[in-house]
Amino acid sequence: MISIIGSGKVGAAIAFLCISNSLDDVLLVNRTKSKAIGEALDISNAIPENSNVSIHGTDDFSKISGSDIVVITASTGIYLKNRIEMMDAQVKMIKEIANQIKKYCPFATVLIISNPLDVLTFVFQKETQLSRNKVIGIASSLDSSRFRYLLSEKFKIKQSQIINALVIGEHGDSMVPVFSRVKINEKNLLDIINETEKKIISTEIQDYWKFLRIFKSRSQFGIAKNTFDVIRSIIKNDELVIPASIVLNGEYDEKDISMGIPVKINKDGVKEIIEIKLNESESKLLKISAQTIRDYIKSL
Ligand SMILES: NC(=O)c1ccc[n+]([C@@H]2O[C@H](COP(=O)([O-])OP(=O)(O)OC[C@H]3O[C@@H](n4cnc5c(N)ncnc54)[C@H](OP(=O)(O)O)[C@@H]3O)[C@@H](O)[C@H]2O)c1
Repeated sequence: MISIIGSGKVGAAIAFLCISNSLDDVLLVNRTKSKAIGEALDISNAIPENSNVSIHGTDDFSKISGSDIVVITASTGIYLKNRIEMMDAQVKMIKEIANQIKKYCPFATVLIISNPLDVLTFVFQKETQLSRNKVIGIASSLDSSRFRYLLSEKFKIKQSQIINALVIGEHGDSMVPVFSRVKINEKNLLDIINETEKKIISTEIQDYWKFLRIFKSRSQFGIAKNTFDVIRSIIKNDELVIPASIVLNGEYDEKDISMGIPVKINKDGVKEIIEIKLNESESKLLKISAQTIRDYIKSL
C-alpha cells in the first residue's frame, strides 16, 4: 500500500498516477478529512477496468499501518516568496508526521515532497532514525526536468536530444545546474553557450515556480510524475538513477545535511549514492548550496 500524507494539489496528482497505472492500493491521509474522501472518490473512477487497486481517504493516521511506501506532501500553507518562508511550521508538522510513521509503519520507505525539501528530509530522518536509504527527498529530479525543458525551448529541439540535464544541491535558490555534463546532439553544452546564457538559464530554473505562478496557482504534475517514477522503481524493483535529497555521511565531503545528489533507487530505497565529477565552479557552488542548507538546519 502507498500512503500519501496530504491530499492537496500534489498529493492528489501523485495518487492519480499511481491509481491510473494500477501500481498499488493508495490511502490518502489529510488534515481535513473531507478533502481526502473527495479526492479518493474522484480518483476511484480512474481505476482501470481489469485492476485490483483501490483508493480511500481518511484523517486517521492509524490506517497507514502496513504501508510499504509513505509519501509526504502535507503543507501548513502556501509559500509566496521562497520555500523556507514557513520553515518553522513545516518542521513542527513533519515531526508530528514522523512520529505517526514511526508508530504505524516503521519499515516503510518514505518520500518527502513537502518544502523546504532538504531541511524536512533531514529533520524527518533524524526524528525517525529510519535508515537514511529509506528517506528520500524528491525535488532535484523536478529541477532537472525544468533544466531540460528550458534547454529544449532555448535551442528549439526535442527534450530527447538533451542528455544529462542534471540539477543538484538545494531545492531552492542555491540549486546547482550541472552544465558541464550536458550534451546536446552529442555536443558539449559548455561549447555552445556563454557565461551570460548560463546565468540566465540558472535563474530561470530557480525561478521556474514563480513564472508558473503567473499563470497557475502552483505546480503539481511535474513533481507528481517525478515522484511516481520513484514509487514505481521501488515497487517494481526497477533501478532508477535520479538526483534526490538524502542525508549525507561524507559523500561530496558533506555531512549533517540532506541535499540533492545523484542516487540509484531500487526496492531498498537508495541503493547507491553516485559521486559524479564536477568542474571547479560547480564544486564551489555545491559547497555554497550545502552551507545554505546547513545554516537553515542550524537556525531551527
Ligand atoms: N518537492 C517538490 O519539488 C515540490 C513541488 C511542488 C510542491 N511541493 C511542496 O509540496 C507540498 C504540497 O503542495 P500542494 O500544492 O499540494 O499544497 P496544498 O494543496 O496546500 O496541500 C497540502 C495539504 O496538506 C494537508 N495537511 C496539512 N497538514 C497536514 C497534516 N499534519 N497531516 C495531513 N495533512 C496535512 C492540507 O490539509 P487541509 O485540507 O486541512 O488544508 C492540504 O490538503 C508543499 O510543501 C509544496 O511546497 C514540492
